Amino acid sequence: PNPERDRLLQAYEWTAKFYHFLLKNTEHGKAAMEYLRSRGFNDKVIDQFQIGFAPDRWDTLVQFLTKREFDLSEMEKGGLLSKRHESDDFLDRFRGRVIFPIHDRNGKIIAFAGRILGEGQPKYLNSPESKLFNKSRILYNLHQAKASIRKLRQIVLFEGYGDVISAWEAGVQNGVATMGTSLTESHAALMKTMADEIVICYDGDRAGQAAVMKAISLLEGVGLSVRVSVLIEGLDPDEFIQKYGADRFKRQMIDGAVSTTKFKLIYLKKNHILLEEDGKIAYTKEVLPIIAALPSSTEREVYLRELASELQLSFESLKQDCNEIRQSMQKNM
Ligand code: CTP
Ligand code: MN
Ligand code: MN
Ligand code: MN
Ligand code: MN
Repeated sequence: PNPERDRLLQAYEWTAKFYHFLLKNTEHGKAAMEYLRSRGFNDKVIDQFQIGFAPDRWDTLVQFLTKREFDLSEMEKGGLLSKRHESDDFLDRFRGRVIFPIHDRNGKIIAFAGRILGEGQPKYLNSPESKLFNKSRILYNLHQAKASIRKLRQIVLFEGYGDVISAWEAGVQNGVATMGTSLTESHAALMKTMADEIVICYDGDRAGQAAVMKAISLLEGVGLSVRVSVLIEGLDPDEFIQKYGADRFKRQMIDGAVSTTKFKLIYLKKNHILLEEDGKIAYTKEVLPIIAALPSSTEREVYLRELASELQLSFESLKQDCNEIRQSMQKNM
């Protein structure tokens, strides 16, 4: 038994309800509500994800927690309040932010993320990491997604809150987020206990796409099968859904997610100018080892033929180089 921890969980539960109430029913929440609507979040998902609003004042939560007789220094340790500079007074940690509660896999609230309305830094202010909230072990929305995950044996992996929420609204309810691009071994092991396949759906910007490369090897490393959504125009999944709609998202990004080999071929191509001989050769040198490592000769042939036609090279010469690489790989094993 851990009474301090239980009191904190109790406070999180109350705080989430309070912020949700303020968002929906008070004058303070109006601008935040408009902001959420402008992002395409409807009332149903606002309830479903218990989204809230922390007013831009110093003591809204301080007063609420005081009335409920919580120990304020305990609440400060738990990341709900801050200490006023060089004083013993407490003040609200989240001010003027949309609040996304973060649950553990059993549905207990263990942290909050606060998003600024519009532009500004930091975009998201999160609860500090603690024993209870360890970003490298937590997947956002796992508590709600697990039913669909078990049924489909598949997880759609996003970066952020908005991506998960928009996808949910679009009918994709097996989505979770790493809350950034740092997927860990512990995330991978956790996913392996629930699913067979992961569809990586990270942002279409440089950071997101680079993170996919790392995520692939972590996930395949624990024996999961992996496909990748290739986002266009640098969009993130949330933006894609708002721009092109739910149907196209499901068709193109989920059903149409590509193999990891295909993703690597697409990703590595961006570094080379294929119209130049040097570029062609350098690109080939980078991708042949990837193809050579594929265990199935049919698979190798499929990608070699694609590469041959794309680079206007003969299948035979690519195959020969590929086989040589494969032989030297086997020697080194
Ligand atoms: N993140 C964070 N702190 C930040 C920036 C990002 O914790 N200062 C986490 C959040 O979980 C965020 C995720 O990383 O959802 C992905 O970051 P990013 O793509 O930059 O944000 P979006 O989720 O696209 O945010 P929004 O759509 O609200 O602009
Ligand atoms: Mn919508
Ligand atoms: Mn991003
Ligand atoms: Mn994003
Ligand atoms: Mn976004």
